[in-house]
Amino acid sequence: MLSEKFDLSGKTAFVTGSARGIGRAIALGFAEYGAKVIVHGSKPSAALEETVEDVQELSPESYPLPFDLSDPESVENVCPREVDILVCNASIQSNLKWWDVPLETMQQQMQVNFNATLQMFQAVYPHMKARHWGRLITVGSVQEFRPHPEMPVYAASKSAQENLVRNIAKQVARDGITVNNLCPGVFATDRNAAALSNPVYAEKVYNAIPLHFAAEADDAAGAALLLASEAGRYITGANLVVDGGLRLPG
Ligand SMILES: NC(=O)c1ccc[n+]([C@@H]2O[C@H](COP(=O)([O-])OP(=O)(O)OC[C@H]3O[C@@H](n4cnc5c(N)ncnc54)[C@H](OP(=O)(O)O)[C@@H]3O)[C@@H](O)[C@H]2O)c1
Repeated sequence: MLSEKFDLSGKTAFVTGSARGIGRAIALGFAEYGAKVIVHGSKPSAALEETVEDVQELSPESYPLPFDLSDPESVENVCPREVDILVCNASIQSNLKWWDVPLETMQQQMQVNFNATLQMFQAVYPHMKARHWGRLITVGSVQEFRPHPEMPVYAASKSAQENLVRNIAKQVARDGITVNNLCPGVFATDRNAAALSNPVYAEKVYNAIPLHFAAEADDAAGAALLLASEAGRYITGANLVVDGGLRLPG
């Protein structure tokens, strides 16, 4: 049965940045399909608590684990290791022209968006290798294809992460581990709520999207479930773009 191939019973999933937005939708989707989910945010928060409650209703053994990905030592010391499915979803972005980006801002974005991803891959790999099964999933951005002029480091960090996915996919395939990037376009989340509340700006954005609307966070959950489950076992080193066609030229 095809539906059985989406079942995540017995799997532990760690989804970074799952207190809110796309990560929350992925966490809820995985819990619905039977995974124990480790719910994460940068810090304890009302959003984190609410998401944990909602996830636990679907998967009672799920629990919260907030820590700051901008601190490499926290990642090293706190990142859970007994994880079957890792989704590196959290990221930060700053809106600055490339000639104005201070070193500290560059380093923070690269740490949260790229370095922490590799650190967490390293943390969970031994467990996945020992079980000969694992899913490493990154969340990229349509900016891999269409970089925004005021987010050069963010765009570059996402491209670096996607390159890492292809690099590592070849190296861990024999360990039963797949590695993929899920690449969102414009999603209506807290991150861009202020910008999209301006009707003139929003219309400009929607006009660039062939499907002509912003995605809801849920629109990423099915793609993530495919990559995380047996249904996606033959997909590795891929970039699954969920963008309403935004990346397409013309
Ligand atoms: N929304 C879009 O249009 C869009 C488009 C392309 C790509 N993406 C990508 O999709 C992913 C999710 O986006 P989103 O819009 O759902 O994000 P969001 O609503 O801004 O939520 C971001 C999540 O990441 C966590 N986070 C941020 N900085 C962190 C840090 N230093 N340490 C630990 N956690 C941190 C936040 O924690 P707190 O809850 O504690 O703040 C939050 O839970 C991101 O990788 C983003 O780049 C989004």
